[in-house]
Amino acid sequence: MLNETKVVGLPLARIDGPSKVSGKARYAAEHFATDMLFGCVLPATIATGRITDIDVSEAERFPGVVKVYTYKNRPTVAKRESKWKDEVALPGYTMRPLEDDHVQFDGQPIAFVVAENFEAARDAAELIRVRYAAYDPHTDLLQEQANSYEPPVPRMKEFMPPKPRGDAEGAFAQAPHKIAFEYYMEGEHHNPMELFGSTVLWEKDGRLTIHDKTQGPQNSHDYVCNVFGLKPENVVVQNKFVGGAFGQGLRPKYQLFLAVMASLDLRRSVKAEMSRREMFYLTWRPVCLQKVSLATDAEGNLQSIMHHALGGTSRYEDYQENVANWSGMAYKCDNVKISYEIAKLDRSTPGDMRAPGAASGVTALETAMDELAYEVGIDPLELRIRNFIHVDQNQDKELTSKALHACYREAAESFGWANRRHEPRSMRDGNDLVGWGMATGFWEAQLSEAEAKVSLSSDGKVVVSAAASDIGTGTYTILNQVAAEAFGVSPQAVTVRIGDSSLPKTSVEGGSWTAASSGSAVQVAARAVVATLLKHARSMPNSPLADASEDQVEIAEGRLVMQANHQVGVAFADIMEAAGVSEVEEHGKVAPDPATMKKFSAYTHSAVFVEVKVDEELLIPRVTRVVTAVAAGRILNPKTARSQILGGVVMGVGMALHEEGMVDHRTGRVMNHNLAEYHVPAHADIEDVEVIFVKEDDDKVSPIGVKGLGEIGIVGVAAAVSNAIFHATGKRIRHFPMTIDKLLGEPDRH
Ligand code: MOS
Repeated sequence: MLNETKVVGLPLARIDGPSKVSGKARYAAEHFATDMLFGCVLPATIATGRITDIDVSEAERFPGVVKVYTYKNRPTVAKRESKWKDEVALPGYTMRPLEDDHVQFDGQPIAFVVAENFEAARDAAELIRVRYAAYDPHTDLLQEQANSYEPPVPRMKEFMPPKPRGDAEGAFAQAPHKIAFEYYMEGEHHNPMELFGSTVLWEKDGRLTIHDKTQGPQNSHDYVCNVFGLKPENVVVQNKFVGGAFGQGLRPKYQLFLAVMASLDLRRSVKAEMSRREMFYLTWRPVCLQKVSLATDAEGNLQSIMHHALGGTSRYEDYQENVANWSGMAYKCDNVKISYEIAKLDRSTPGDMRAPGAASGVTALETAMDELAYEVGIDPLELRIRNFIHVDQNQDKELTSKALHACYREAAESFGWANRRHEPRSMRDGNDLVGWGMATGFWEAQLSEAEAKVSLSSDGKVVVSAAASDIGTGTYTILNQVAAEAFGVSPQAVTVRIGDSSLPKTSVEGGSWTAASSGSAVQVAARAVVATLLKHARSMPNSPLADASEDQVEIAEGRLVMQANHQVGVAFADIMEAAGVSEVEEHGKVAPDPATMKKFSAYTHSAVFVEVKVDEELLIPRVTRVVTAVAAGRILNPKTARSQILGGVVMGVGMALHEEGMVDHRTGRVMNHNLAEYHVPAHADIEDVEVIFVKEDDDKVSPIGVKGLGEIGIVGVAAAVSNAIFHATGKRIRHFPMTIDKLLGEPDRH
């Protein structure tokens, strides 16, 4: 661990901020080349069936059109499935754009028009005549639950339910207090500001430089090389700036395939960008149906937890996430049964979306906990505290740390929870019913394999390089801080180079693991630079550091010095001069430690408190206050950290009240594929949000003590809103989003 903090821990503004707000930062589809071509996709208009006829002759004659690709003339690409599997691919058959005449989801690309300008490509696509033989669509999860199944090939073994413990059914039957309800969540769609786009710059010697909207430039790089049989050294993928990404950018998207395909075929630079509408067809958090049963003894101690989750997937891949396992680790309980199934739908494969699994699963669990608190007749926060657990019962492991008590205490204090009246409809403000609700949040704290390169030059300039991504999270800034800290230099002296597949190996940016992993790799590399400097210093004539060891020295004010006495040391410029070098550069690498992983589980935790005001007659809910306290280990930068949590809270409010993917189950088609009809929170929907980071020292979770923050912010928010709405109105809505029609109407089907 870092011991002192001079730069780490400061609320530095994002170093990429000025270039983004001034428009200088170029996103994937904002790169250009002379004589570049532009592609546009024609999406299918059925959810399932076959293309019986596709006539592109008129489109081909359209002025400016260079070529129209369909399954009939798609260039030859890799056949073996292994070549299509990206770093985070799913069990199943990876989607291969324009492969054949099958249509498996509404909006599937069935043609790709390439033209001298985008408008020509777009207009020509409209001239393609398609005939289909459409089959009956099956897109309603409630209908398809009859065909649900346990995933035969686990995506990750951690996603599979833990073995049942105790006798959950027996304990439930005998318990004095119990609840059992179903919770239904509509699918949600990803709406980052930046659309999926790829600019492929074709160079005469056959090299490609690709600007891709991705969370992992090396993942896109390897996918392109495997699918098209290209030499790794001839392809570079960059994502230096990413306009927001919440999980769907983990896997390569079809516009990358199509743009590279056309570029190689036409030997020209090609750009392709999805429309907002295409984003809706392709990117979504799966619809899910959950049943949660909870029971306690007379005092509110949990005796039984049962959680069954059902999620939607596509025909061609088994999308899986950890929805229900949280219920086995959240609270102390010896009788637990968890199950997880998926059901095939005629939809595109769902994908990871901020806290995949937890965002939906913890919403169900934490709404059920509130229902249980009312059943037992105790305060909802008290119920959680009464059932607090210090170990991970699912895996029978210790926890690296769990400062959740502090989260409860500090958030409740700031929120004023002690002034809450327990009875629903007991608090008001003029015409508004006031409701206070709370929930706990859980997410994983993971370390992924990561490498970094750090160089220190004799003039005190530092360069950090890694293939990591900054997807809006602050990666540029925190890696800078870790390096600045290590060398005792100012952040201005540090340059961070990320977002390039040719840089040191890094996993995709996801799972909230980047700060912990790449941050640690930078620290390891920086320590290696110090070690090399020491080696040089020791061999200098009359060196004051001749007998020093690595763990006795550090860098301060431009000198390599003894930690115990900064008077003793040598300027690193002098060390480099004596060694005949102008800079020292070293690699660092981190990976999870198997011994630690065997013994410990690691999670981030949060406590979310929400106030809603609901107009008594119109039943319009407003979230007027949110206080969330987060325990995520060490906070490298409280400003970027807070921004991550704020973003998560906003998405949580969207999950609670607004975001609802609508499908017409008669046709299987996505109905609200635009931001006019698919609502996300606007500024007017978000009022006071307070973020608290509680102190949590954790020397096991990662070498720099960081747990990660990208996802925990959303978890628990929708449940806290739901619980606040119940407290305000006395109505329990178990169907998300909790739109006004559900508040006005009779209790709905769930
Ligand atoms: Mo995240 S949903 O792993 O980007």
